[in-house]
Amino acid sequence: MNYDAPFSEIPWNPSPNFSFPDLSIGSIRIGFPCVQAALSGISDWAERRIVRNLGASATISEVMLDEFIISVTHAKGKKAKRFLRVDEDDHPVGAQLMGVGPEDFTAAALKVVEWGFDWVDINFGCPVKKILGRHRGGFHLSQPENALAIVRSVRDTVPSHIPVSLKMRRGLDDSTESRDKFFQIFDGARKLGISVFTVHPRTVLQRYAGSSNWDFLTELRNYAPDCTILGSGDLFTPMDCVRMMETTGVNGVTIARGAIGNPWIFRELRELAAGRPLPAPPDLKEQREVIEEHFALSTELYGEKRAVFNMKKFCIKYARLHPRHETVRDDFVQFRTGEQLKALLDRWY
Ligand SMILES: Cc1cc2nc3c(=O)[nH]c(=O)nc-3n(C[C@H](O)[C@H](O)[C@H](O)COP(=O)(O)O)c2cc1C
Repeated sequence: MNYDAPFSEIPWNPSPNFSFPDLSIGSIRIGFPCVQAALSGISDWAERRIVRNLGASATISEVMLDEFIISVTHAKGKKAKRFLRVDEDDHPVGAQLMGVGPEDFTAAALKVVEWGFDWVDINFGCPVKKILGRHRGGFHLSQPENALAIVRSVRDTVPSHIPVSLKMRRGLDDSTESRDKFFQIFDGARKLGISVFTVHPRTVLQRYAGSSNWDFLTELRNYAPDCTILGSGDLFTPMDCVRMMETTGVNGVTIARGAIGNPWIFRELRELAAGRPLPAPPDLKEQREVIEEHFALSTELYGEKRAVFNMKKFCIKYARLHPRHETVRDDFVQFRTGEQLKALLDRWY
């Protein structure tokens, strides 16, 4: 899937009266309302640590298959480590789950809670073809009854102090039927005790094409003022995040593509929240330090061979902040070992 994010440059001057909302996810007080989104292949323990150090107030794991979680018997086993590692300082952190039916979803939800995640996020939005073909992710938006059976089972089984949230797109497609089904699930979930929703207002079939329909977020905000709505979609700069909160009234934002290779977005947002001007982008020295730290954490998690493979996608994104970004990016495509990565950092940073 091509998920390259443009650098959006929509100018926005926040109104002088705007203040960042104080976010809670159910019983968990988050405060600063800018959360690291669930990102498959990205928001692992290492990346979550990087963004948290730079200001993210909460993070969400990569999406995890319920049947994978159920198959894991030991959270410290090699297979489990990648997804399930949660450290003392990695809180609050949500575990996002994906699956087909209530039984496995619920068993997996109980396990992630047992392993230290602070809340359970149910994925009803993934647009990947293979996932839809297996009746997971965004497919659930086409079958409200099953979707709500999942929500009911997870909510009724997970201890009541653990929040359960839903991640949704605004429907399978642009039809009225899809829209009706969205609201059937949304309303049904509220009746079942769900009060936190992350909404990415593209349709499933839209994938990443076109723009995210923020008007839908405004509509939802007005429709369900008692719910916590986290907005998603086209948040590439700090100003985009402020603009979304201010124009739609959502309670917070989950930053996705805008944070890949630019974890400093959280720090910049904290400065804005404190009423200070947008700081200068990180200099090359700091960029290097963060890339090195990210690589070290990745190596701790996966071992060097896999960390090298894993870092390539991050480095290609990190290169976007370099003044010679195209050249640096092209070089980052080439490295095959930790030594080669170090040589590139020596050369360019
Ligand atoms: C590489 C990639 C992986 C993603 N993985 C997940 C995921 O695991 N769970 C999820 O709910 N959304 C996932 N998303 C969707 C994002 O969380 C977000 O909703 C979407 O990218 C829209 O936000 P943006 O336009 O600001 O990037 C993913 C998106 C990308 C680009």
